[in-house]
Amino acid sequence: MLTKISRLILKKKNKSKIVCLTAYSKNIAEEIDSYVDLILVGDSLGSVLYNFETTRKVNLSMMIEHSKSVRKGVKKSLMIVDMPFNTYNNKSQALKNCKKVMKETKCDGIKLEGGRKITEIIKYLIKFKIPVMGHIGITPQTVRGKFRYKGKTDLEIKNLLKDSKSLEEAGVFAIVLECIEKKVSKEITGSIKIPTIGIGSSKFCDGQILVTDDLLGLTDTKVKFVKRYTNLKSNVRNAVKKFKLDVKSGSYPSSKYSY
Ligand code: KIV
Repeated sequence: MLTKISRLILKKKNKSKIVCLTAYSKNIAEEIDSYVDLILVGDSLGSVLYNFETTRKVNLSMMIEHSKSVRKGVKKSLMIVDMPFNTYNNKSQALKNCKKVMKETKCDGIKLEGGRKITEIIKYLIKFKIPVMGHIGITPQTVRGKFRYKGKTDLEIKNLLKDSKSLEEAGVFAIVLECIEKKVSKEITGSIKIPTIGIGSSKFCDGQILVTDDLLGLTDTKVKFVKRYTNLKSNVRNAVKKFKLDVKSGSYPSSKYSY
């Protein structure tokens, strides 16, 4: 397990940028697999697919079912699954739930949100051979109020640096930096030996991740860091309009589409 991770992720630090995206289903996983190093089954599926206000409502069985679907579309990338809120509050609960996720989804590792507060739990998981990816900066499972980028005050910067160091020492194989000011993400990236994967945290990270639905234009998000590479919403609308016209006019199904 760790060999696959070192081959795909760890060795890329300071050599080549790490490309990561989310997937919640086989169809998307299959299309992105050849182009990315890592596919994350993110608990962002709560807001993206289920319209939840926060990711806190996502539960373990939702993550497992979506991950099983994603697994069917992943051949070469590393597949990492987000552990949802309230599933890793203490060592034994975390181990039981992570083992279940690893076993049922056949993923390559899991991701947990948080810094120093959860490093003892992370160390425990790693002791039991569960590969862990960290996540600091904005951590949507615990964010309160408005989403604001991190790394503005001296205290925030100090805490982010301490968190990243302590995650590295705990043994995570990479850390997601979410919405961290560019000088700070550069400093974090330069100060640890494991890769940083940025989302809204500037080009100075070792890799980048985006929510695939945002990149494809399937969501209406207006957050600053999202670059839309296509507009699938309008493609879907146009195709459906054409289908409607064909059905109304009787031109679909023609003999070509009939038995
Ligand atoms: O849930 C998610 O999709 C994530 C990424 C955006 C990093 O955590």
